[in-house]
Amino acid sequence: MMTVADIQFPVLPMAMRYLHILSASLAIGVPIFVRFVLTPAAQKVLDPETHLKLRAAVNAIWRKLVYVMIALFLISGVYTLVAVSMPQIRGHGDRVLYDALFGFKVILALVVFFIASALPGQTKALEPFRRRAGMWMVVLIVLVLTILMMSVTLRALRDGMVRGGPVVSLGVTTR
Ligand code: HEM
Repeated sequence: MMTVADIQFPVLPMAMRYLHILSASLAIGVPIFVRFVLTPAAQKVLDPETHLKLRAAVNAIWRKLVYVMIALFLISGVYTLVAVSMPQIRGHGDRVLYDALFGFKVILALVVFFIASALPGQTKALEPFRRRAGMWMVVLIVLVLTILMMSVTLRALRDGMVRGGPVVSLGVTTR
């Protein structure tokens, strides 16, 4: 019979997973809200000068938050990779597919971090990004949604829900 003593609650991995999912929710929700709700509403009811002031105020706050989010993503992501995912996927048939997908996810995440910090930033060289902020926000949203799909697939690969075929083209047979 199961007792309370049998319950396993790995606090650190679960806290890291919580932080990673919290950051992902914000990375998806905030740009969608700003691009498709706040901006059109502000354009409708504010005069251009007040709209610019609102934009500057939002950017000043977002500039600080974006670095906290990047740090949370990196800390929780690297922890999960090393302490949870790698031990579980090691020796698993889909390791090559997992590594390739994970590598691609990190590259896309770096592009997301770059755009998310360039848009509210003040660097002169990145002014062209800010001039076409609406378009870059859409690029950001599409990239984050793509990363979300890749992350769901990584999880499914690790759980054995999704399986890749045998990989022989790299000179390694994985299954
Ligand atoms: C825009 C950036 C990112 C988004 C939106 C994102 C989103 C997600 C989501 C939704 C999950 C699934 C969580 C779960 O099922 O428990 C996940 C898992 C994961 N993420 Fe991220 N992530 C991002 C960046 C990163 C970065 C930068 C790293 C590492 C440096 C990372 C490493 C991981 C790892 C290792 C997992 C576990 C995958 C597995 O199940 O084996 N992520 N991510």
